Amino acid sequence: MTKIKFGIIGCGSIGKRHIAVVDADENAELVAVCDSDENVLKEIEDLYPSVLRYSSFSDLLNNTDINVVSICTPHGLHAEMAIKAAQFKKNILVEKPMALCVEDCKKMIDCARENNVKLWVMKQNRFNKPIAITKSAIQENKLGKILMIKCDVLWNRHQEYYEGSNWRGRADLEGGVLYTQVSHFIDLMIWWCGDVINAQTIIQTKNHKISIEDCGVSNIVFENGALGSITWTTCVYNKNYEGSITIIGEKGTIKIGGGYLNKIDFWDVQSYPLPENISFEDKPNNYGKYQGTSSNHDHVVKNIISQLLNERHDTVEGDEGMKTIAAIEKIYSNARYD
Ligand SMILES: NC(=O)c1ccc[n+]([C@@H]2O[C@H](COP(=O)([O-])OP(=O)(O)OC[C@H]3O[C@@H](n4cnc5c(N)ncnc54)[C@H](O)[C@@H]3O)[C@@H](O)[C@H]2O)c1
Repeated sequence: MTKIKFGIIGCGSIGKRHIAVVDADENAELVAVCDSDENVLKEIEDLYPSVLRYSSFSDLLNNTDINVVSICTPHGLHAEMAIKAAQFKKNILVEKPMALCVEDCKKMIDCARENNVKLWVMKQNRFNKPIAITKSAIQENKLGKILMIKCDVLWNRHQEYYEGSNWRGRADLEGGVLYTQVSHFIDLMIWWCGDVINAQTIIQTKNHKISIEDCGVSNIVFENGALGSITWTTCVYNKNYEGSITIIGEKGTIKIGGGYLNKIDFWDVQSYPLPENISFEDKPNNYGKYQGTSSNHDHVVKNIISQLLNERHDTVEGDEGMKTIAAIEKIYSNARYD
């Protein structure tokens, strides 16, 4: 059977997860990696000695025969790298957030279309069991009208998390906490409730030496009329406390929590009891000193492989990924720094 050949650009925390997932998939071949840091390339060489290694993205594109480029570099580089990959006629899987502004997302989508390649965005949390069950309850209209939705992302990131990085905490390369820690949560809320049409936001930087906020609150109106709120921080003492979404519908209430949306904390839905014997086995991404959201990257990679091999279409593409960036822009657009 034909294998889908991957090149992975950016081999840091999440790039290593992409590498492991591609390497483990029987229908995929890990052909090449690229990282601008020689020490990182050395780590990859030790683990995957036969993989081609490049310190320049142009060299990787010029010299390798690959079907998909996975872009796992800092947010601020996603747009230019995706555009370049499309010009080289490569399909693209870009990490979240797709880009730092809607204008760049549009350029990425247009360039992928012009070059007849696919552009997918990594939204692996959609594969978490509690998320999938909630989505089917909403699709089957079991909750009735959604009245309110509340999201709490109360996480810990130490100052060293920012200091050990040349892009985290920087307005030009990271943009803000909504792009990094909160973007999966926003993706899910707009998947269920439609676009953010209005937002009133206050942000502050309370406990880190960074040029983005570390605390924020926003009151939101969604396209379907639901009132929403997001409270987010990276200031929680010692370790992550909560990452949750609560949905208040006419006919039911659901709270998804467990740290990274991996558990149902509360389920009371008329004529839709929580199915019994579900095992909530979704695991977090573990980066040593901190944890991130779910590690269901393998589901996304499997889906795009089968899409390329069998023409299936159920992975988030550029137009859908751009909605999160539009929502984030809206939420920050009128933010007061009080
Ligand atoms: N889907 C998820 O849940 C998830 C989880 C973590 C990170 N991410 C996303 O992945 C991206 C990377 O995050 P990370 O935590 O892995 O960051 P990281 O800093 O750990 O890794 C980034 C890597 O990119 C490399 N790099 C930087 N500029 C480069 C260039 N010009 N050419 C080649 N390599 C370059 C760096 O050397 C580094 O190894 C971010 O956009 C982040 O939001 C997504």
